[in-house]
Amino acid sequence: MERGLGGEVPNKARLAILLSGRGSNMVALVNGVQHGVLKDLAEVVVVFSNKPDAPGLETAAALGCPTASLSSQGRKREEFDAQVVELLKGYQPDYVVLAGYMRILSGTFVRAFAGRILNIHPADTHQHQGLHAYEWAFEQQLPETKITVHLVDEGLDTGPILAQAPVDLRGAATLAEVERRGLAVEHQLYADTVARLLRSELKIEK
Ligand code: GRF
Repeated sequence: MERGLGGEVPNKARLAILLSGRGSNMVALVNGVQHGVLKDLAEVVVVFSNKPDAPGLETAAALGCPTASLSSQGRKREEFDAQVVELLKGYQPDYVVLAGYMRILSGTFVRAFAGRILNIHPADTHQHQGLHAYEWAFEQQLPETKITVHLVDEGLDTGPILAQAPVDLRGAATLAEVERRGLAVEHQLYADTVARLLRSELKIEK
């Protein structure tokens, strides 16, 4: 691959990863960038959290990623999001990748990065939206659930689907087991889907 003057690979997509919690999907993405399917395709320009004490931020820093945070506690949604948009724009991201970011995004945010915000949802977004998707699958005793990676629009988990992958839930006796199986699929699907998106290999479902 062609290299820039400083030895860097030109035209890598700049990813801003947003999280609120433990950040296992962030780790999968960073691993993909550092030595997996996203190597030579993307770089992580910032890992941002609305919770300054999110464990995922410390993990990101330990992995060598730039980090930033702003507390959303007690803040009005539009006003907070406008501030986050300004902060993120400073990093010039090509894509904003939500990885357990526990906020419903305002129109201000979605419009600022229209068509360039991705999310991972632990269910088929046609069947389940919002929180507690693994609890839902477990309580319904579903034999299978589907992890979904989608673009974010102004609705709750309503954006165009980029990719889905099934999780076999047969014989999963506890919620913890459902989550364990689901997260293993999430981690692979998210990095793979971002890679395919960056290689323009995806057909975006409307
Ligand atoms: C994942 O299940 C993801 O699908 C959902 O939130 C959870 C975040 O987990 N949106 P983690 O912080 O990536 O470990």
